[in-house]
Amino acid sequence: GFIGSHLVEQLVCRGDRVGVLDNFANSMADNLAPWRSDIELVEGDLRDLETVQRVCRGMNVVLHLGALGSVPRSINDPLMSNSANAIGTLNVLVSARDAGVQRVVYASSSSTYGPVETLPQHEGMALRPMSPYAVSKLCGELYAQVFSQVYGLSTMVLKYFNVFGPRQNPLGAYAAVIPIFIQTMMRGESPTVFGDGLQQRDFTYVQNVVEANLLAAAATAQGEVCNIACGQSFSLLDLIAELNVILGTDISPTFAPGRQGDLPRSQASIAKAGEMIGFQPSVDFREGLRRTVTWHRELAKGR
Ligand code: UD1
Repeated sequence: GFIGSHLVEQLVCRGDRVGVLDNFANSMADNLAPWRSDIELVEGDLRDLETVQRVCRGMNVVLHLGALGSVPRSINDPLMSNSANAIGTLNVLVSARDAGVQRVVYASSSSTYGPVETLPQHEGMALRPMSPYAVSKLCGELYAQVFSQVYGLSTMVLKYFNVFGPRQNPLGAYAAVIPIFIQTMMRGESPTVFGDGLQQRDFTYVQNVVEANLLAAAATAQGEVCNIACGQSFSLLDLIAELNVILGTDISPTFAPGRQGDLPRSQASIAKAGEMIGFQPSVDFREGLRRTVTWHRELAKGR
């Protein structure tokens, strides 16, 4: 997938032995191509326990990012999101426990917070998931914590806030907003904003998430949950304004009705991740957006 391919790149670069499980359900075809001969790749499904067991055998650390993203997808098909995200995670934890894996890092989502009265969102807040997707990610989070308490499996939960960057799939009904807007505006077309465009997100460049995973894998804190974000939020209208600057365009959005299960505001406190694993974001929203546009331009040239 998207974030996984960046982790693979970093791990291969530093000389780690890397095994990958992917069913390529939501991946761009060439995401792993440059490192294909450096990794042990199993094409298979998280929902198949035997496959997950096979992949976990002999591994020291498991970085679990396999999931079906998208709030609307989960609203259309909650069983599917639950089986990939909740049951898939249970399969990973059981397999890691049985294989004697030393550390499991689980990718959770900011959507688990639901609507909050005050910002920033911090890990001590009550969680009020508003979509089947958020429930399924929270389920994995709770399993990861319980496996730490009950079986002594060393787990850690990283709660990602709207990750974006190169290799994120811009295609399909369930793509994320940044790749959709970049592709649309590069064609000179107007991006469609669901709602008033004032909804805010703590958009997080993928390199920050890779660094957080490496820190969490090496840390010893068990069963802990940490937000991984930049700690700053931008509205969709800010995003469009910034893209107009980068692309040298002057495109206005088209407005459509708001999406069900959509949250008005999301912004993280990243203090706990700083204290617990020494996390600091190294690439901010604007720089991340510039790098992402560069990648989309290269992609367009290659076509
Ligand atoms: C949510 C989670 C995020 C998770 C992601 C997985 C929150 C706050 N965040 O992201 O942690 O990783 O699901 O899928 O719940 N939009 C448009 N036009 C478009 C597409 C989207 O206006 O063409 C809007 C959406 O209505 C939303 C915002 O852009 O308000 C972001 O949407 P999206 O990128 O899908 O992510 P979230 O649903 O925020």
